[in-house]
Amino acid sequence: MLRVCVLVSGGGTNLQAILDAIDDGAVTNAKVTAVISNNPGAYALKRAADHDIPAECVSPKNFEDRAAFNRALLERVDSYRPDLIVLAGFLVKVPAEMIEKYRSRIINIHPSLIPSFCGVGYYGLKVHEAALARGVKVTGATVHFVDEGMDSGPILLQKAVEVKPGDTPEILQRRVMEEAEWKLLPQAIDMIANGLV
Ligand code: GAR
Repeated sequence: MLRVCVLVSGGGTNLQAILDAIDDGAVTNAKVTAVISNNPGAYALKRAADHDIPAECVSPKNFEDRAAFNRALLERVDSYRPDLIVLAGFLVKVPAEMIEKYRSRIINIHPSLIPSFCGVGYYGLKVHEAALARGVKVTGATVHFVDEGMDSGPILLQKAVEVKPGDTPEILQRRVMEEAEWKLLPQAIDMIANGLV
């Protein structure tokens, strides 16, 4: 059974998609054993608690500097002995020590077709604002392994999503989530859990 630790910052709809996919059997051989957020107000923490999954916050605000926060985050992640770390809307730069320790065992979901609209400053709604500003007709989502760069690790899965006339960033974000993110992230976990990667 793959032990999965999910890191989140906000609403947690991707976390919910993972939990639902495990519950309905679309993802096998995997279990979410912990959810950690940098943000105490993240609704994702409630989703985890509602599922009886250990959920906790490690906020940078509670530490004297970034190094202390990074150490604490790694220590809390380690305590759950994860086989896989999933960044599901985790908007914090992953500490280098964690990337080193969990190399090829951290995946991230990004709401565009990498290498478009990714890297520093591209997160959440900003990604969709940039896609609409550029006038692309197709966007999508990407699941990739996490390395030291920003959205630069090996790509595992991608799915295209149509941009429609009249789209706002919010409408496009929702379509990308529904048609791509909520499918791709569970699929990636299932592939890893079943040795298909
Ligand atoms: C998702 O769209 C995810 O792809 C994005 O944040 C959102 C989190 O939503 N992540 C990034 O932009 C990472 N660069 P959620 O909390 O409802 O899952």
